[in-house]
Amino acid sequence: DEGIQFRNMVLLFYQSRGRHDMLWRHTDDPYRILVSEIMLQQTQVDRVAIKYPEFIAAFPDAAALARAPLADVLAAWQGMGYNRRAVALKKSAEKMVDEFGGTLPGDPAVLATFPGIGPATAASICAFAYNLPVVFIETNIRRVFIHFFFSDADTVTDAEILPLVEQTLDRENPRVWYWALMDLGTELKKKVPNPNRKSAAYVKQAPFAGSDRRIRGLILKY
Ligand code: ADE
Repeated sequence: DEGIQFRNMVLLFYQSRGRHDMLWRHTDDPYRILVSEIMLQQTQVDRVAIKYPEFIAAFPDAAALARAPLADVLAAWQGMGYNRRAVALKKSAEKMVDEFGGTLPGDPAVLATFPGIGPATAASICAFAYNLPVVFIETNIRRVFIHFFFSDADTVTDAEILPLVEQTLDRENPRVWYWALMDLGTELKKKVPNPNRKSAAYVKQAPFAGSDRRIRGLILKY
């Protein structure tokens, strides 16, 4: 059915064009995922890719970050912008050490009580660190659902999108599923119009421009 096709399409996109080189996708250490998610809240992937390994080398776990002088943490944060995130991240590491034995809880409601962790970041940590089938939206995920399921992009609310996120979620592997949605959403931002919208500004272009035939073949085989 349509849900399965959507899922296959998203996963096929991820296989061929996903950003598989991101270091934070090669760990399931909750602390390292936390660091990456806080960084990615407001900083471009390319910049995070440079800063993240340096930050992890300087503060390899929650205990190291918790006991580090704030000045050292801010120095390692240089170039990321929005220093309040670094302050909150250090406070979250302190909370991990003081209240959770240095670990990060895998419960969105508990995570949302940590400094700097809102509902979307809490859910993304549960998906990426714990592979939990949480339901959440962020900018790029929102763009995917609006593109494929709505004709009037301007009036779509998250309340309308969330049931679709819930229904299409790959419960076998939420981690990969959400990586795939984020990468497709990033790709859609670049150039792909919503085919359902009637506007002269839209150029006819499929999300897999130039490779339609190959993609359809792969979907049938999948
Ligand atoms: N991979 C894991 N988390 C991500 C995020 N927040 N943005 C982009 N890619 C990611």
